Amino acid sequence: TTIYLKDYAPFGFHVESVHLTFELDPRATRVHSRIAFRPDPDVADRRFFLHGENLSLIVARIDGETVAPDITDAGLTCAVPDTPFVWEAEVQIDPAGNTALEGLYMSGGMYCTQCEAEGFRKITYYPDRPDVMSVFTVEIKGPHPVLLSNGNPQQQGEGHAIWHDPWPKPAYLFALVAGDLLAHPDSFTTCSGKPVDLNIWVRPGDEGKCAFGMEALKKSMRWDEEVYGREYDLDVFNIVAVDDFNMGAMENKGLNVFNSSAVLASPETATDANFERIEAIIAHEYFHNWTGNRITCRDWFQLCLKEGLTVYRDSQFTSDMRSAPVKRISDVIDLRARQFPEDQGPLAHPVRPESFQEINNFYTATVYEKGAEVIGMLKRLVGDAAYAEALDLYFARHDGQACTIEDWLAVFAEVTGRDLSQFKRWYSQAGTPRVHVAETWENGTYTLTFSQKTPPSAATPDPQPLVLPIDVGLLGANGDEVRATETLEMTEATQSFAFEGLAAKPVPSILRGFSAPVVLERETDAAERAFLLAHDTDAFNRWEAGRALARETLMSMATSDAAPDADYLDGMLAVLRDDGLDPAYRALMLAQPGQSELAAALAQSGSTPDPDAIWQASETLKQALAQHAQDVLPRILAGCRIEEPFRPDADQAGKRALGGAALALVTRLDSGAQAAAQYDAADNMTLQLTALSCLLSAGKGAEQLAGFYDQWKLDRLVIDKWFGLQIVQAAPDQAVGTARDLTGHADFNWQNPNRFRATLGSLSMNHAGFHTADGSGYAVLADWLIKLDPVNPQTTARMCSAFQTWKRYDAVRQDLIRAQLERIAATPDLSRDTTEMISRILGAG
Ligand code: ARG
Ligand code: ZN
Repeated sequence: TTIYLKDYAPFGFHVESVHLTFELDPRATRVHSRIAFRPDPDVADRRFFLHGENLSLIVARIDGETVAPDITDAGLTCAVPDTPFVWEAEVQIDPAGNTALEGLYMSGGMYCTQCEAEGFRKITYYPDRPDVMSVFTVEIKGPHPVLLSNGNPQQQGEGHAIWHDPWPKPAYLFALVAGDLLAHPDSFTTCSGKPVDLNIWVRPGDEGKCAFGMEALKKSMRWDEEVYGREYDLDVFNIVAVDDFNMGAMENKGLNVFNSSAVLASPETATDANFERIEAIIAHEYFHNWTGNRITCRDWFQLCLKEGLTVYRDSQFTSDMRSAPVKRISDVIDLRARQFPEDQGPLAHPVRPESFQEINNFYTATVYEKGAEVIGMLKRLVGDAAYAEALDLYFARHDGQACTIEDWLAVFAEVTGRDLSQFKRWYSQAGTPRVHVAETWENGTYTLTFSQKTPPSAATPDPQPLVLPIDVGLLGANGDEVRATETLEMTEATQSFAFEGLAAKPVPSILRGFSAPVVLERETDAAERAFLLAHDTDAFNRWEAGRALARETLMSMATSDAAPDADYLDGMLAVLRDDGLDPAYRALMLAQPGQSELAAALAQSGSTPDPDAIWQASETLKQALAQHAQDVLPRILAGCRIEEPFRPDADQAGKRALGGAALALVTRLDSGAQAAAQYDAADNMTLQLTALSCLLSAGKGAEQLAGFYDQWKLDRLVIDKWFGLQIVQAAPDQAVGTARDLTGHADFNWQNPNRFRATLGSLSMNHAGFHTADGSGYAVLADWLIKLDPVNPQTTARMCSAFQTWKRYDAVRQDLIRAQLERIAATPDLSRDTTEMISRILGAG
C-alpha cells in the first residue's frame, strides 16, 4: 500500500503519559505499557488504532478491565471510552530473533533499540507516528550492569533502573540499552551553568576508542550554544556504540545510539576520514536535540525538516572546525556521487516526497543532502542576519511541536517579507536542474543569459522554473577580480543579467561556492578552465575548474584515442608546486572524478558509457600525471612528512591527504618501493591504509594484505576496511572474483550490516568491476540481496540502489541488470522495502 502526504489526518487522542516496564530476556522480553489517553475534541475520527508488529499480546486492559482488541499484522483496534482512559498491555517480544535491527534487538550480547522511523511498533502497541508526543517513564529489569533509557535517571540499582524523560517526544525517539558496558565519562557545563554528565558506552575492549568522540561532543555542545543559541536540556547525555546497526547513528533523546564505525576511533585503527566523519556524525546527532527532538516532524513526509536542517547545521560546524572550502568541495563531491544519480534516475523523488510504501526507503541523499542544499540556498537568498532571525523565531514558536515544511518556510516569509511560494518548489519537485549559460560582450557591458531546465521524471512529470541563487564574480585578464561575488537571483526559465561599465571582456566565475545544486552547462575551452584553475579567487570554483578539465579530458579519452589534455597536466603541476595552497585543498584538486560520475557525464552528453574504457582512461591519466609531476613528487612527499605526534586535526590530515595523493602517483613510477616503505613505517591507520591501497592498486601488496589481516584480525572495524579495500582496489577483471572469495571468508559475517556493506557495497563501488561485461557483478550482488532480504530488509533495500543507474549503460548490460532485478522481484515473500525499491528501479512503481 502507498501512503500519501495529502491523506494526512491527526490522531484522535492525546497521549498524556507513557509508562513502560521491560523484563529483559533474549528470546522472551516482556513489555508492560501503561498509557494515558485523552480523546482530542478537535478530531472527529476517534477510531482507536495502535500500531503493533511481531508482538505477542499477553493481556490488554482499559481502565483495569481486560479487553479483547481486533489484531492484524499491522496493529490493533479496540472500542474505547470517549473520556480519558488508561490503556495497559503486556506483550512478549524476541530481541535475539530480531535480525532486522529495528525495534529491540541484540548486538554482541547487548540489548539496543532503533525506532526511527517505525520501529517502536515492534516493541509495544502504540500510536507510532511522530505527531503523537508524550512524556515517557521507563523501568528496566535485567541482569545487566548498565541499563539505559531516555531522559534522566531516577533510580538505579542491581538489575533495575528507572528513567524519566521530561520532554514530550514521539515514539521514534525512544531508546533502551542494556549490557555489560564500560563508560568513557566526561562532563559539560552549559552556557547557563548547568552541569551535564556525558558518557560514551562501549563493550569492554573498546574503551580506548572513545576520547575523540567525546571531544567532538563537547565541541558540538559549545558550538550549538554559540552559533544557534541552543542549550542542552537534560542532566545526562549518553552515547552508545553498537556493532550491528543499519545506519550511521540515531538521535534518541538523551541516549544517542551509534554504529560503532561512526563513533569509535584511535590513531592506530581509524583514518583521518574516519575521524572527520565521526566528528560530523556526533555533531549531527547532537544537533538533532533541537532540530528533530524539541521540534519534530508532523509526519514522515516532512523528514527533510529535521534532516536537511541538521545536515546543514553539521556542515556549518565542520566548516568552522576545519576548512570551509575543503568541506564545501567534499560535500559537492558527495552530492554529485550520491544525490545526482538518485535525482537523475528512476528513484528520483522530491526533497519532501509525496508518497511512499516504506519510509525507510526515503532516508536518502535527496532528503538529507539536497535537503541541506535547499537550506543553504535559502540562507544565501535571505542573508545571514535574516537566517539567524528566522531560526530564532522557529525555535521560539515551534518548541515542543511536530511541524511541517510550511511552518519552516513561514518563519522565513515572516522575517523577510518575501513570498517563498516559488522557492517552495525545491521541496516538491524532483530532478536536478540543468542550467545553460551564454554570454555577450558589447560596449562595456557583459551579459550572462541563463536558461534552466529540469528534466521530467516519474515523480515530477512537468517541472516548473525554480528560484536559483547563482553566485557570480568576474575576473580580469590578469586574474584580478573586477567584480566581487554577487548573488544573481534567477526565477524565470530564461533570464539575463548585465554587468555594465567594464573596461574589457571579463572571465566569469559562475556558481561560486556551488550556490545551487544544479548541473551548470557552459561550453567553454580548456584555456578558460585553465585560467580559472590558476586564478579564480573563489576556492570552490578554482577547484571546479580543475575538476572540469579532468572530466573533459577523461571523457574524450574514454570515447576516442585522445591523449591527456596538456592544460590539465600543467594546471595540476602548478597546483602541486603551489605551497601557498592548503595541502588538503591540493589533495582534493589532484583527485580525479569517479568513474561512475564520468559514466553519468557521458550518458548526459549522449554517449553510452563503456566502463572498461572509462577505467582505462582514468589509469592513463593518472599515469600521465605521475610522469608529468615526476620531479616535484619527492619534494611533496618530504613536505608532507609529519614529525610531531599524531593529531586527527585538519592540518595534519591535510598533509597526510596530499602525501597520500603524491604516494599514489609515485607508486606508478617506482613499482611500490616507497609505498612499501611507508607501510612498514606507519604508526597510524591513515598512513598504513594509504600505503596498502597504493600497493593494491598497482597489483602488488599481497604480503602486506596478509600481514594487515594478522595484525588486525580482532578489530572488527579495521577488518571491514580489509574487506573493502581489496575489492575497491581490485582491477576490473578481479573485482567480482575477489568479492566472491571474500564472501567465503570465515570473517564474512553477512548478517552484520557493516561487513555486508564492506563487501558487497565495495563491489558496487568498483565501477568497472561491478559492470563486468558478463554480468557476474550484478549476479553476485543480486544473490546476496536475495539472501539478506528476509533477514534485514532495510539494508537490503538500501543496497538495491547500486542498480539505479542501469539505464545509462548499453543494451547488453541493461538486459543483464533487468534480469537480476526481475529475479529479485520474483523472490517469494520479498520484503516491502525491497519490493518498493526494485519496482521503482524497474520503472514499474
Ligand atoms: N535520524 C537518523 C539520523 O539521521 C537516521 C535514522 C534512520 N533510520 C532508519 N531506519 N531509516 O541521524
Ligand atoms: Zn539526522
